[in-house]
Order: sequence, then structure tokens, then C-alpha cells
Amino acid sequence: MRISQSAPFDLSGFLNSRTALINRSLDGFLPKATVKPATLHRAMRYSLFAGGKRLRPALCLAAAAAGGGDEADALPLACAVECIHTYSLIHDDLPAMDNDDYRRGKLTNHKVFGEGMAVLAGDALLTQAFEIAVQCQGWPRYPHRQIIMELAVAAGSKQLVAGQVADLEGEGRKISAVQLRYIHERKTSALLCCSVRLGGMSANCTAVQLRALTQFGYFVGLAFQVIDDILDVTQTSEKLGKTAGKDVAAQKATYPAIVGLEKSRRIAQQLTGRAFAALKPFRGQAVALEALAEHLLKRDR
Ligand code: IPE
Ligand code: IPE
Ligand code: MG
Ligand code: MG
Ligand code: MG
Repeated sequence: MRISQSAPFDLSGFLNSRTALINRSLDGFLPKATVKPATLHRAMRYSLFAGGKRLRPALCLAAAAAGGGDEADALPLACAVECIHTYSLIHDDLPAMDNDDYRRGKLTNHKVFGEGMAVLAGDALLTQAFEIAVQCQGWPRYPHRQIIMELAVAAGSKQLVAGQVADLEGEGRKISAVQLRYIHERKTSALLCCSVRLGGMSANCTAVQLRALTQFGYFVGLAFQVIDDILDVTQTSEKLGKTAGKDVAAQKATYPAIVGLEKSRRIAQQLTGRAFAALKPFRGQAVALEALAEHLLKRDR
């Protein structure tokens, strides 16, 4: 699939077609629900196909297009990122973590399959991600070794997991804006940034482009979590597909809690502005990334 540079960019068409593409690819990559151990494969598929917005894969494919590549080459990486994201949500929802009953408009994984199976479904999705990622097309500039390292670092103990650790340890504590930034950089921005970078790498992008994509992904990732925090206090559970108001109840460190709603909105706008500015080297050709950044800022779920 190629993005036309002449017509005005149709974001909802892009999101619909890419979501369908990602869903088909994930279905092909995942073991069928009947494959033994069937309970595990059903649990993995339950959360993976529960109706996530697929924003990380969309960013990955959009970055591949910006880098001048074929989106098909980015598909395994986009799917791998979504598997890691979904695992992180299954574990995030566990009673030992955020203790959530709803996710993606359905009961959480542990509510349906039990805590033990939810832990294992998360483990298996994380591992599945690497099995999928390694099937991507490598380039001399971006060999498989680098791509796997990229995913491992973003999902690992100094990034995504570090953010989750600090998020848990921050519950009920007074933390500074600097500490909150540390949490958001890791628990959310790291994987979003990785999605964008991997898209660029799949397109064999230049070093200048990769630097621009990295900046873009970093700022979009930060804005994403600020908005998530805002939505938790401003939206209904029905709209979000997960229980609203949980952050206050759990005494989570969030932007609205620390700087208030108005300032949080301004921060999200500023971060998105910096993401836009990062795309300058693409000279207006990164249309899908631009549209996505705006959409992520304005989203209501
Ligand atoms: C939710 O991510 C978790 C955060 C990092 C804030 P999304 O809002 O992308 O969730 P899904 O994938 O659409 O369910
Ligand atoms: C989730 O952050 C981040 C990860 C899963 C890595 P939140 O805890 O704020 O996400 P939601 O609100 O449950 O989706
Ligand atoms: Mg959490
Ligand atoms: Mg949570
Ligand atoms: Mg949240």
C-alpha cells in the first residue's frame, strides 16, 4: 500500500485500512486458538483481538512510508510492537498492578482466564513478538541484530518495565514533575518511539531521517501518556473501554494530579508541537505521521 502525496491525507481511511491489515497479519502470525495449549492461545488472542486502536502499528507503517519504504516490509515489526503492547496491558491490568476489570471494552484477561493464565498469555505474547520481528526484511544498514536489540531495549528493564516499576512505586507518593517525566518516557514513550524507529529502519531510512523519527516518536510518546492521563479524568468508562477515574482512586502519579487539567492540556499541545517540528527533514512528505500526531492529541478514547 502506498500513500498518495497529492490528495489531502485521509486519516480515517488510513487507520481503517491499516487496522484491517494489521489484524489480518497478526491472525496469520499467532498460533490458532485450537493449537495446544489451546487455553493459552485463546487467552493471547482474546486480548490481541479485543479491539485495540492499533496506534503503534499505524505509527510504524506511517514511519515506513515517510522513509520512502514499502509498508509491507514494516508489517512484521508493526505486529511485533502490538504484541508487546498487548502483553504490557494484560500485566498492567493484573490485581497486583493496576487491578482493572475492563480493557478494550471487554473484561480484562485475568477476569476471563484467571490470573495465572493472564500472566502466561502476557509472557507468551512478549516472546511471540520476537519470533515475528525476526521475520522482517533486514538491510545492511539495519541488520536483524539491530532490530531485535531495538525491541528488546524498549521493552526491557531500563525502559518499559522500568516505567512500570516507577509507576507502581509512585502510587500514593508525592512525586515531582521530573520523576513523572521519567515514568512517561519509559512506560509509554519508549515503545511508541521504538514503533516509529522500526518503521524507518524497515524502509532503510537515512541517519538524518532516523534521528528525526526518534525525536518525533519520543515527543508523540510523551504526549500520548499525558492525554491518557487526561482522558482518565475527563471521559467515561464506556468511551474508553476501560474504567475511567482509576488513576485518582489508585493515587497514581499523573499530569492532571500534579499540574492540573489545564496545564496538562497545554503540555500535551507543546509536546505535539515538538513532534511536528521534528519532522522538518521530511519536507512535508511525512503526511501520515503528521496526521497521526494531530489525531493522538485530539483523540477522545
Ligand atoms: C493504553 O494504550 C496504554 C498506554 C500506554 C496509555 P492505548 O490507548 O494505545 O490502548 P489500546 O491499544 O488502544 O487498547
Ligand atoms: C500503561 O499505563 C502503560 C503500560 C501498559 C506499559 P496506564 O496504566 O496509564 O494505562 P491504562 O490507563 O491502564 O491503559
Ligand atoms: Mg499502569
Ligand atoms: Mg493501567
Ligand atoms: Mg492510564
